[in-house]
Amino acid sequence: MSVRRIRLLGDPVLREVAEPVDRVDEDVRVLIDDLMDTMYEADGIGLAATQVGVPIRVLVYEVREPEDVRGALINPRIIETSGRQKEEEGCLSIPDLREIVQRAGRVVVEGLDADGEKVRIEAEGLLSRCLQHEIDHLDGVLFIDRVSPLKRKMLLNKWSKRPDKWSKRPESARSATPPM
Ligand code: NI
Repeated sequence: MSVRRIRLLGDPVLREVAEPVDRVDEDVRVLIDDLMDTMYEADGIGLAATQVGVPIRVLVYEVREPEDVRGALINPRIIETSGRQKEEEGCLSIPDLREIVQRAGRVVVEGLDADGEKVRIEAEGLLSRCLQHEIDHLDGVLFIDRVSPLKRKMLLNKWSKRPDKWSKRPESARSATPPM
């Protein structure tokens, strides 16, 4: 198990549409372990394989509120959405920038787990937001694509002026908006 380097905004891999996984083998399980380690180290609540430069359809999550749920999803698909939520969101690939993003309130996601077994997750609140954010990563979509053009311009402007060491500043998982 090891911590991999998280790719930041500007890295072209973040814009790739990730390929589906044909077979859940040892390589995929090693990748999942590494994603978990990398997510914990960065104090995040979700991470997509794309974010460590491996554009295949794998993501991990760990959301602690209202209950502790963690896992990996391979080839995840949103099969149902309902309602709406508008909350502040942050991303490990765009450290320190946050903006209010509108998402579906509840989602039903199907995919495979690390053993290659079919799973179905019904999620609300933060877990629902996290899964939508990570599945977006697998499609090359970032949260800054889901805000108004004006807000996006402001975020990109702030990003372009960030100090060199900004991205190395530790972020706290206890912050109101843990990054993913
Ligand atoms: Ni993200």
